[in-house]
Amino acid sequence: MYSLLEQLRQHFSQALVNAFGEEYADTDPLVTLAAKPEFGDYQSNIALSLAKPLKQKPRDTAQQIIDHLDLSELCEPPEIAGPGFINLRLKPSYLESQLKTISQDSQLGAEKAETPQNVIVDFSSPNIAKEMHVGHLRSTIIGDCIARILEFRGHDVLRLNHVGDWGTQFGMLIAYLREAYPEALTKADALAIGDLVTLYKEAKKRFDEDETFQKTAREEVVKLQKGAPDSVQAWELLCEQSRREFQVIYDLLGVELTERGESFYNPFLSEVVQELEAKGLVEEDQGAKCVFLEGYTNKSGERLPLIIQKSDGGYNYATTDLAAIRYRIREDGAQRVIYVTDAGQASHFDQVFQVAKRAGWVSDDVELVHVPFGLVQGEDGKKLKTRSGDTIRLRDLLDEAIARSRQDLEQRFQEEGRNESEEFIAKTAKIVGISAVKYADLSRNRTSNYVFSFDKMLALQGNTAPYLLYAYVRVQGISRKGNIDWETLNKQNITLEDNSELVLAKHILQLSDILKEVEKDLLPNRLCQYLFELSQKFNQFYDRCPILQAEADKRASRLMLADLTARTLKLGLSLLGIEVLERM
Ligand code: ARG
Repeated sequence: MYSLLEQLRQHFSQALVNAFGEEYADTDPLVTLAAKPEFGDYQSNIALSLAKPLKQKPRDTAQQIIDHLDLSELCEPPEIAGPGFINLRLKPSYLESQLKTISQDSQLGAEKAETPQNVIVDFSSPNIAKEMHVGHLRSTIIGDCIARILEFRGHDVLRLNHVGDWGTQFGMLIAYLREAYPEALTKADALAIGDLVTLYKEAKKRFDEDETFQKTAREEVVKLQKGAPDSVQAWELLCEQSRREFQVIYDLLGVELTERGESFYNPFLSEVVQELEAKGLVEEDQGAKCVFLEGYTNKSGERLPLIIQKSDGGYNYATTDLAAIRYRIREDGAQRVIYVTDAGQASHFDQVFQVAKRAGWVSDDVELVHVPFGLVQGEDGKKLKTRSGDTIRLRDLLDEAIARSRQDLEQRFQEEGRNESEEFIAKTAKIVGISAVKYADLSRNRTSNYVFSFDKMLALQGNTAPYLLYAYVRVQGISRKGNIDWETLNKQNITLEDNSELVLAKHILQLSDILKEVEKDLLPNRLCQYLFELSQKFNQFYDRCPILQAEADKRASRLMLADLTARTLKLGLSLLGIEVLERM
């Protein structure tokens, strides 16, 4: 077992039992990473919380715990500080042996979950025939990262793209398609439809201008809902063309998803309403079927409804999400369903979760979580736009990131007098550009808005993808220069002497704990922060400690520390969806 925190907690739990009796076996020993170096490496607050029920002074409680604590292998003698904190400092010998152990493990000691779950991550989820916008980009990047971390932890993850592929807008689109692109329909050729966003705009214009067209569009909706073959075929063409456009983005980002759009749940919508009615949850309000929500009231204190069937008989976004929850739990056996969308949808999810729970679909072992994120803003603090004021196309945004990263690279290569092949430049620019966009998004606490700035995200200094990629490249540079055979090196011993070595070692050993934390809180910025600090600590070590020039034993030990850093970076970055480079 590698998790440092877990080991310390277990020792503490044992000490609590030995000191105060069996009834303390399940008490959380409150061991955490120390907030400041002067508090040691780890700290426990348990004496402060136990003193009162034990009717003791906290420092006495702390002393009693320490008397029953055997940490001699892991730590220096524990110290009682302030009102009764217990401060722990890890022993270099222990760090050395832990590093040695994880160096032999391809997962670097990061553990799997004890009880793997069936998890669904519902993310990306753009809408057919509409622009996939920066909000969908955020969902795609954050959702992919969460899925990767849960997969790494050993969970069975289903990555679902809940595409908006149903709704009344299809009537208008199909009617327009028949009018403007009849040849696409006869040849069943999605490509002939051309850019869907343009098509949408044209159709909308037509719809707003012409009443007869509106009538045709409404009839089309009804035909489609009834499953008329020619309408369904037209709908499929639209979906197919959208899918192609989305796929370009997914390929650029290296993200995989299983499409299961809203239309998938159509066959279950009426059942869902019936089931809710049978459970007595449904009331009729002005012809619409509603579930009145608990905890949602208007100004005069009346309960607010969640409409599940409109007065015209149609279903809506909420009905589909209810059907999806029911299906995901019953058919997919999901134990944790994670929804990654902008914070604006928080109350939508809160409401459908409430109704699903009241319907009895969500048993105690199932967790439904909304993972909200803030807005993407331009550098002016307003909604992100192009210079001419149009909404930005994702494709253009990603292309620009790659183009800018290419400019930076070419300039640097020129300054350094390096002559690199076109193939190398193109590949490096793509990896750096895409990584920069992903990392800029993931490294901030997702709940806040974030300002999109190419200059900041591509900078070689600061908490950016290029900075982390560069730390990795540095280690690869050392190994090329020293002609290092990592295989034989791995059998050597590690000795930690310089403070920068100790600091780096302790950090490397926290990986397992960080991943567990992200699995629980679903905050990828914690992993980013960890990797950023890892790079900083590595750079401090690199500045202070000669590696290749050091005498034989030290050289081997430091090389191993550098190699462990690089492997940790590579693994951590891969969980963010970022590929490393050997040179840059
Ligand atoms: N298509 C929706 C949108 O663009 C997001 C769907 C999120 N997932 C869900 N199950 N409702 O806002």
